[in-house]
Amino acid sequence: MLGLLSLFITLLPVQALPASSQKMLPPYFVLAGDSTTATQSSNGGGWGDGFLNTTLFKGASGHNYGHNGATTVSFRAGGDWDKVLATVKNVSHEHHPFVTIQFGHNDQKAAANISLAQYTENLQRFVTETVDAGATPILVTPLSRRNYETSSGEPSIIQDLANQTAATITAAHNTGASFIDLNRASTQYLNAIGPTGAYTYNLISTDHTHLNVEGSIVFGGVVAQLIQRDFPALQAHSFVRVNETLKEDVARGIYYWP
Ligand SMILES: *[C@@H]1O[C@H](CO)[C@@H](O)[C@H](O)[C@H]1NC(C)=O
Ligand SMILES: *[C@@H]1O[C@H](CO)[C@@H](O)[C@H](O)[C@H]1NC(C)=O
Ligand SMILES: *[C@@H]1O[C@H](CO)[C@@H](O)[C@H](O)[C@H]1NC(C)=O
Ligand SMILES: *[C@@H]1O[C@H](CO)[C@@H](O)[C@H](O)[C@H]1NC(C)=O
Ligand SMILES: *[C@@H]1O[C@H](CO)[C@@H](O)[C@H](O)[C@H]1NC(C)=O
Repeated sequence: MLGLLSLFITLLPVQALPASSQKMLPPYFVLAGDSTTATQSSNGGGWGDGFLNTTLFKGASGHNYGHNGATTVSFRAGGDWDKVLATVKNVSHEHHPFVTIQFGHNDQKAAANISLAQYTENLQRFVTETVDAGATPILVTPLSRRNYETSSGEPSIIQDLANQTAATITAAHNTGASFIDLNRASTQYLNAIGPTGAYTYNLISTDHTHLNVEGSIVFGGVVAQLIQRDFPALQAHSFVRVNETLKEDVARGIYYWP
């Protein structure tokens, strides 16, 4: 009894202390990325809007700057990154700004001519400038595509973003930034539910990269859950909340439809 009680007391403060002892401004999430973050449109759609629409509460908010076709180079050259930093400055008085940074799908294409070393450096520069602007960076490994191979009998996800995932984690280690491993979490879930379920999240049936509204809600929820793990205060203050059924289904590898 005493043993159990002391275990409870030791574990409790980790989650509970921030709620009672610290004030925290509501977070504002500025999303930087490519079409796998972007708003649903005719040729793109990612997890960003599902995350912003369904997981933020109590004054928490954000803006989706995901840009179809963007690389770590074009996002800066085309002026999107300046908008991210301007938004951080704008919201800082009333919010704790976070910047999520997810690239790789287009950087990896031969036509982009961006080496893994350049990709890593570009991510690190985004992180440094985010910190300098007064925001908290969160590096995000790229959302998995929903392409399967069956060489082992069971359909399993083709891990064609492994190099970009590893490079994103390296960028986090080199800068001391937080990262969430969305590639791993999405790959695990997609392997568990298999292709039939996975394809229901396709923006159009032949597009296994972009997400429809429901897919955005599912993977937006996965992102929110990963963020809660790294920043328990956001959950303790109820700023970031994830549908319990979604949470349980993803954890058990059961197909979820919002
Ligand atoms: C987000 O909300 C907007 C406005 O209500 C809606 O048009 C859009 O379909 C929603 N998208 C997602 C992915 O939830
Ligand atoms: C900054 O805030 C002002 C006033 O609310 C708004 O008009 C402007 O569009 C905002 N700029 C950015 C980059 O969000
Ligand atoms: C690719 O990038 C390298 C180094 O940045 C450059 O030297 C080379 O000319 C580029 N190749 C093409 C085809 O643009
Ligand atoms: C990852 O990088 C290695 C070494 O640069 C390369 O041989 C391999 O083809 C790359 N994998 C993918 C999936 O691009
Ligand atoms: C969570 O998701 C399930 C399945 O879509 C839905 O039935 C339920 O109402 C949701 N719960 C909340 C609290 O939104």
